[in-house]
Amino acid sequence: MAAPSEFKPLIVGFLCNWCCYGGADLAGVSRFQYPPYLRVIRLMCSGRVDLEFIFRAFAKKADGVFIGGCHLGDCHYNPEGNYDALGNSFVAKRILENVGVNPDRLRLEWVSAGEGIRFAEIMNEFGAKIKSLGPFGSSEGRDVADLEAGLEAATQLVPYYKLVERERFRVPKRTEDGYREFFARPDYDRLFKELVLDKLTMGRIMGALRAGLATADDVAQKLNLDPAEVARHTYLLAQQGMVKVDGSRVQVAIAA
Ligand code: FES
Repeated sequence: MAAPSEFKPLIVGFLCNWCCYGGADLAGVSRFQYPPYLRVIRLMCSGRVDLEFIFRAFAKKADGVFIGGCHLGDCHYNPEGNYDALGNSFVAKRILENVGVNPDRLRLEWVSAGEGIRFAEIMNEFGAKIKSLGPFGSSEGRDVADLEAGLEAATQLVPYYKLVERERFRVPKRTEDGYREFFARPDYDRLFKELVLDKLTMGRIMGALRAGLATADDVAQKLNLDPAEVARHTYLLAQQGMVKVDGSRVQVAIAA
């Protein structure tokens, strides 16, 4: 692992073509200084940044992920794509935290094509933040392989999440405050845990069992979970025929 002073973070930046990419371009031609850590992926809209892109970027060893879009109200697509990006960033941070990745490694900002200086300032700030967190996995204090397994489970969950989102998590007010209020609501929190995080935990447990772990205690230790929580999910998985339990030993059922 590189010493902190030598650490050169890899930041994957998903930039909207119409605004933030223009801001980055302006920063470049204006020679505003910012660290050379960013690997840019140009997209037509920040709303195109799927949750899967975020999880895969971290799984491919990005130390930070940046999403840059047009200011709210300025998105070039209808319905406003940058509100989708805003919603995805709330959800992604929650899921990252659940699988053990520091959510501060993900940042979303609005930058117009005329805001080269703002782009450079944000990059300086975010680059310093990621440097202070260290390489992916270090501030988390977790094995990178374990984090990658969690990210893989999160990626597998994305199609299911999109169905749930459509049915249960529609944000009623398309304003920045509306989004903040919605994602801070206790009823949202409860439902998100029941419908999304519990399913994610089950996916992570299945992954650990497939990797050869044999008891609920081993799984709990590996995934940094409460043993009682693992036991509860194992019981539910057994009811669904996904695992077989024999005394303290658990194994993936053949059909799973
Ligand atoms: Fe820029 Fe949608 S077009 S965020």
